[in-house]
Amino acid sequence: ASMTTLDPGFGNTASCRSEITYIDGAAGILRYRGYPIQELAKHSSFLEVAYLVIRGELPSPGDLKEFGEQLSANAGIPAEMSALLDALPRNGHPMTLLAAAVNTLAAYYADSVDPKDDQQVETATIRLLAKLPTIAAHIYRRSVGEEPIAPDPSLDYVGNLLHMLFGDGSGDSELDALYAKALDLLLLLHADHELNCSTATVRVVGSSDADIYGSVSAGINALFGPLHGGANQAVLEMLEEIRDLGGDIDSFLAKVKDKESKTRLMGFGHRVYKNFDPRSREIKGLAADILARQEEPDELFALALELEGKALADSYFTDRKLYPNVDFYSGVIYRAMGFPTNMFTVLFALGRLPGWIAHWREQRKDPATRIARPRQLYTGPTERSYPGQG
Ligand code: CMC
Repeated sequence: ASMTTLDPGFGNTASCRSEITYIDGAAGILRYRGYPIQELAKHSSFLEVAYLVIRGELPSPGDLKEFGEQLSANAGIPAEMSALLDALPRNGHPMTLLAAAVNTLAAYYADSVDPKDDQQVETATIRLLAKLPTIAAHIYRRSVGEEPIAPDPSLDYVGNLLHMLFGDGSGDSELDALYAKALDLLLLLHADHELNCSTATVRVVGSSDADIYGSVSAGINALFGPLHGGANQAVLEMLEEIRDLGGDIDSFLAKVKDKESKTRLMGFGHRVYKNFDPRSREIKGLAADILARQEEPDELFALALELEGKALADSYFTDRKLYPNVDFYSGVIYRAMGFPTNMFTVLFALGRLPGWIAHWREQRKDPATRIARPRQLYTGPTERSYPGQG
């Protein structure tokens, strides 16, 4: 008899040991390398957290400076790649274009694709972190019919990202500083989340000794799905749908509870968090701060607050331990900052990149690593005779 057990979605299967991220889903605890997410959110920048997630320790001021300089020095992309990005369909979804572009990094930088070579892996790590914002901003600028903006090495990571996206900013320096702080925090809160679908994908692809660029490209495609990172876009679309139908939350929730409708409350529920998602708490506070600055009250934020309140008072959701996740409020903030809906998941990808890289590197050094190759339980026909032969 087979010892194989059926575990759809790997809900109960640990496929590796990892030192990167600790989650206690029942208690709502999230720590990167031992540091609670709330403390990192308070005291660290995204760049420091990226360093921490990948290298295992917080950087000294000197380390951080060097790291930032390495990223600035590598932020450019080859002219051929720029031309390639310009040739991609402008109305294609930015996530599709991002995955395609990241895959081609292995071709533009074939000197950093050997997973067995420490120096090449180091070089590829810096290139990925440095070039993803440039690629993402280029895709964004083309999608809105604007010329791409070259990276500015005098700016910090998030400052440069915002510069490449929006140019000179809003003209209100206080507001721009607030947006930079908000984007930094959002990226930080997304930096790693152990074996979520995209990170598991990066590991599965990497387990065949595929290069890191291709592995990360696969992760981007996994993240794109609406049940994973695509949920931040889906939440906004859901809120708009509710608004356009006259703001009737009760009938929307009734539809969600009717299984026949196959409608989910997007931004709710999580495989691991069964009490609350600590990231969503940080993000909800941030959303309130940002939206308080808007001239007009934000109707979608108000709708989200009301929707959350009603769902949390409803036994359908509490019985199933469904709470707002990281994606519930992030979209409202991105929208307030001027991002089009189809860029939300790209921002998630920029945030999750350090986690993908850290896992790919950890797996590479782990002597227990084997090629990912799950088993199945076969349910098809037993042996049959070929028609006309028996
Ligand atoms: N709305 C309505 N019902 C839900 C939802 C939801 N959002 N999520 C789960 N359920 C129900 C589900 O139908 C099932 O009910 P029953 O026991 O009666 O069959 C029960 O709750 C358990 O759900 P599950 O499908 O076994 O949960 P899962 O761990 O397989 O899925 C999830 C986790 C995040 C994919 C799911 O909760 C979901 O689809 N949420 C909406 C999409 C979303 O917000 N995704 C973002 C996740 S957080 C960060 C990220 O990965 O981007």
